[in-house]
Amino acid sequence: MSGKIRKIAVLTSGGDSPGMNPAIRAVVRASVYYKKEVVGVFRGYDGLVEGDFIELDARGVKNILHRGGTFLKSARSESFRTPEGRQQAAQQMKDRGIDALVVIGGDGSFTGAKIFEAETGIKTIGIPGTIDNDLAGTDYTLGFDTALNTVVEAVDKIRDTAHSHNRLFFVEVMGRDTGFIALQSGLAIGALDMVLPEEHQSSWDELTQYLEKAFEAQKTSNIVMVAEGSKVGDAYSIAERAKQLYPNIDTKVTVLGHLQRGGAPSCKDRVLASLLGVSSVEHLLNGKSGGMVGEICGKVVFTPFEEAIGKKKKLDTQLLKIGRILSI
Ligand code: F6P
Repeated sequence: MSGKIRKIAVLTSGGDSPGMNPAIRAVVRASVYYKKEVVGVFRGYDGLVEGDFIELDARGVKNILHRGGTFLKSARSESFRTPEGRQQAAQQMKDRGIDALVVIGGDGSFTGAKIFEAETGIKTIGIPGTIDNDLAGTDYTLGFDTALNTVVEAVDKIRDTAHSHNRLFFVEVMGRDTGFIALQSGLAIGALDMVLPEEHQSSWDELTQYLEKAFEAQKTSNIVMVAEGSKVGDAYSIAERAKQLYPNIDTKVTVLGHLQRGGAPSCKDRVLASLLGVSSVEHLLNGKSGGMVGEICGKVVFTPFEEAIGKKKKLDTQLLKIGRILSI
């Protein structure tokens, strides 16, 4: 392994996700294992610009494996968007002898990481951390599995009451630009339909077609999952339109919101975080940077930042079809 890197910094950036803590733990313990010094950066890129650092050792990350959120805290930084901010961040790192950076975050964080490395030459590597699962180069991002389990648990409860009262529920889940959470959780809870942000899926006409099929089939209660970025509208506006069209159907809305971002990371997220945390350090020590480590079909894969950000990860439309086949 390359001896050039002596000190590694790790930060969490953008929207937090369950799995960030176990990933920090893995980065720190792998660095210690390979006899490198390691530093945690508080508040994402803001902390990097301001030099808000903490020296860490193996014991410094004890008892965080099972905790949601990120003990380093996260932020969306304005100052790091400027060349001056990035130069200041690089200077903070140089002043402390830090040679490399691990960024745990989503596409916005990786856009910053890519520019930072290009401008400063500081070796930077990413670990995908977002509940949205919208990064190419990995089957799952950290937090996606936990968020799915949270949604499924919540919507199973909604199903109980929907069934008792013969109601139609529109349940809104996170996903500003993509419908991964809505699609997979919708399949898992037996939703009638999933209204997604992707252009080619779920128009108002398509939705009403499925609603009418369900009414004809004498289905007494129905749940429709709505991704927050859906082009058809948010859950409240969709429900309003549905009430106008079907005044005899008792229609309700639940917006799950930020509860999807919290909670103890699932087993799958802890394992993925451990794998990618160690891999990120090993990649750096082997001279690899400028990209993200992910897992595809059980194998660790390195994807350059521009591809991870620029290539749109496609939804499995087969799942949408399966959901519709099974729900009526
Ligand atoms: O973490 C990703 C995400 O959950 C999006 O789906 C959502 O739109 C966004 O974060 C909201 O984040 P915040 O409330 O932190 O701005």
